[in-house]
Amino acid sequence: MSHDLFEAAKAAMAKAYAPYSRFPVGAAIRTADGKVFAGANIEVASYPEGWCAETTALGHFVMGGGGRIAEVAVIAERMPKVTPCGGCRQRLAEFAGPETKVHLCDATGVVETVTMGDLLPYGFRADLLK
Ligand code: THU
Repeated sequence: MSHDLFEAAKAAMAKAYAPYSRFPVGAAIRTADGKVFAGANIEVASYPEGWCAETTALGHFVMGGGGRIAEVAVIAERMPKVTPCGGCRQRLAEFAGPETKVHLCDATGVVETVTMGDLLPYGFRADLLK
């Protein structure tokens, strides 16, 4: 993974609004055509209404033109190897394939790289709706 995707996730984490959990997370998406979109988690006083860093990044990705996801980086200040939650795995999978790489990072860089297929085996797919 090139360093800019990690740096984008880390910079996004610094913008997290997480006053309740105090668990800042950052995520960055690189598109198949090379664009990078990032996001942080955003919490609200009605706790279940907050959302994840990956979801913020996906919103920027779709508003920036969407397409397909080539790779993802995720970082959390207080966890050395954060992995996307179940809901975000499903959201990311909407725009990614089983081979799409997800880089799990700490403050210094990538700790482990997994694939969407690792994270969401047997996921629900749109083609099952047909
Ligand atoms: N969180 C994320 O942003 N991404 C994840 O993959 C896991 C959890 C956020 C949600 C909440 O604001 C905080 O981390 C603690 O759960």
